[in-house]
Amino acid sequence: MQKYDLFNGKVNNMLHGADYNPDQWLHRPDILEKDIELMKKANCNVMSLGIFSWSTLEPKEGDFQFEWLDQIIDNLYQNGISVILATPSGARPDWLAAKYPEVLRVNADRSHNLFGERHNHCYTSPVYREKIKIINRKLAERYGEHPAVIMWHVSNEYGGDCHCELCQQDFRKWLQNKYGSLENLNRSWWSSFWSHTYTNWENIESPAPQGMQSVHGLALDWKRFSSDQTIEFYKNEIEPLREITPQIPITTNFMYKYIGLNYWKFAQEVDVVSWDSYPSWHSDYETDIDRAVDTAFMHDMFRSLKDGKPFLLMESTPSKTNWQPVAKLKRPGMHKLSSLQAVAHGSDSVQYFQWRKSRGGVEKFHGSVVGHAGHENTRVFKDVAALGAELQKLNSITGTTVKAEVAVVFDQENRWAINEASGPRQEKKDYLKTCLSHYKNFWQQGVSVDIINQEKDFSQYKLVIAPMLYLLKENTAARLKKFVKNGGTVVSTYWTGIVNENDLCFLGGFPGPLRDLFGIWSEELDALYDQDSNQIVIKNNTGLKAGQEYEAKIFCDLIQLEGAEALAEYKSDFYAGQPALTVNNYGKGKAYYIASRNEDDFLKDFYYNLIIKLNLTKIILAQLPEGVTAQKRSDANNDYIFLMNFSEDEKKIELREELSEIIDENVIKDNIILKKYEVKIFKKKIL
Ligand code: GLA
Ligand code: ZN
Repeated sequence: MQKYDLFNGKVNNMLHGADYNPDQWLHRPDILEKDIELMKKANCNVMSLGIFSWSTLEPKEGDFQFEWLDQIIDNLYQNGISVILATPSGARPDWLAAKYPEVLRVNADRSHNLFGERHNHCYTSPVYREKIKIINRKLAERYGEHPAVIMWHVSNEYGGDCHCELCQQDFRKWLQNKYGSLENLNRSWWSSFWSHTYTNWENIESPAPQGMQSVHGLALDWKRFSSDQTIEFYKNEIEPLREITPQIPITTNFMYKYIGLNYWKFAQEVDVVSWDSYPSWHSDYETDIDRAVDTAFMHDMFRSLKDGKPFLLMESTPSKTNWQPVAKLKRPGMHKLSSLQAVAHGSDSVQYFQWRKSRGGVEKFHGSVVGHAGHENTRVFKDVAALGAELQKLNSITGTTVKAEVAVVFDQENRWAINEASGPRQEKKDYLKTCLSHYKNFWQQGVSVDIINQEKDFSQYKLVIAPMLYLLKENTAARLKKFVKNGGTVVSTYWTGIVNENDLCFLGGFPGPLRDLFGIWSEELDALYDQDSNQIVIKNNTGLKAGQEYEAKIFCDLIQLEGAEALAEYKSDFYAGQPALTVNNYGKGKAYYIASRNEDDFLKDFYYNLIIKLNLTKIILAQLPEGVTAQKRSDANNDYIFLMNFSEDEKKIELREELSEIIDENVIKDNIILKKYEVKIFKKKIL
């Protein structure tokens, strides 16, 4: 398998470091000196610099001050620490906001922001675009050749939208470009509904709480536009970087579950994907196992954005956050486990927010490597230093990738459309949660999974799972059919194939163009109250346990067979006896349709069976106990296997093969004992 080189030959070890804000401490040279001493003790080899430094770099318009940064970068370099250098557009100096108010964002309700906060500038403003380009050019000219600088960290956590007049104008242009004529736009948006027909491009406004909210095509296009506009803004930012420093790779840090951007599109414009992960471990509303599944899903998605290329864990907390409702400390063991979880799924780094706690400001209580006490004699510092030492033993894993036979489709545009839809269960549509409930079964059985959108190539997989694929793009149906015809297996659920990409319902019966693939017709969809349930009963000769019942809740799709075979049927209500689970033979493959939202036990048994039936590769030859997962990265010669226990109990795994541990260098033949939160990493030669 291909080994990736993220840094054009400049780095070949695991990165370990943090966001570093020396600009807050320039008046304290003693602290800056101490930082270097502590970074070395913490086994850090990289720092992300300058993320919010615009007001220090350009205190007055056109007055650039780089000497302080020169010194910091030189100093880091002399001490063996590389730099991921940021462009500072995430927050702006006051003079910029005061002189050019157009840079400040306008909210959906058309209120205008004042100066303050961050991540809240207009993505269209020509002034902001020009000003950031000027400073980025200077940064590239000054530091492009510096041997410390290994990567650009462009801006910070892009997100949100702006409803100012400049953005409205660009939105209208974007629409003109897409639809050509108002007639076409009106038809695509079904805007004769409630007399919303547009007769002039200038009358089109972005959605607003006091304005338009009921034209779904408009809402969807606004989201697409805002995402595209953000990417355009980013492309403007990187122009001077590409021109002056083509050798330095570019990233921007993506966010957990973020709904505002189409990351699949954005990923095409970055060299390396990176993201910021802040799972709330040890909460009172879910188990650490569920939290681990959710985080694993995100890691798999960020790796899949660039087809398996390793990503970077750009931020994580070494202890706690300040913004979660309860700032719970990571319990002993969790820091190492959660950090290596990222590596297991494809990260070539473990980085933190933040190196040193700020003395003031809203993040002064956020976790950091160095706290207000200012020394290394802390639990957190010791955990970080120990992990840094262990990461050095994992350098050979950098550049390796994950090869998955299974893909779960989690599509951002579909997510937008589902959220926008009114009905059938307003607060319980739970698209992401549903994808997670399918994914969990592969995590638990130690089977690698990619998380893809509906536009990705399906042909490399054996199994594609597309739950609730409500919005079906024009050629997705054809591509899915081709995949199954050639021998692939697809699994989908209720609320699939409902609308096209303009959010217009398919005519002629659901699941629209997938009707012949699944061999069914979905006539009606019943919504259940929270306390209600139905049951599905497994039929004879299905490969599943005949007569077994599972609870169905929230959604029950009433389907008719049109060639498919029923594997289960509803037990009660007026649709008792109607099919609830079907399979259709299509070409050389099979298409399964799960008609109702069933309890987790159903998915567990269903996928347990399918994994055997499709002979999917399990990462280790053993039955994994509850809460233990196996993940794997590979190159041409070796598999690197991570066994992780996210449960609070000691777990025993009965091995049927021999594995050699990397960090502790043991050879294990029969039983592996994993203590609470323990992780072990093995290397296995590919024969
Ligand atoms: C985000 C930001 C950081 C910091 C952290 C705190 O990820 O990028 O600047 O605010 O959150 O958790
Ligand atoms: Zn704007």
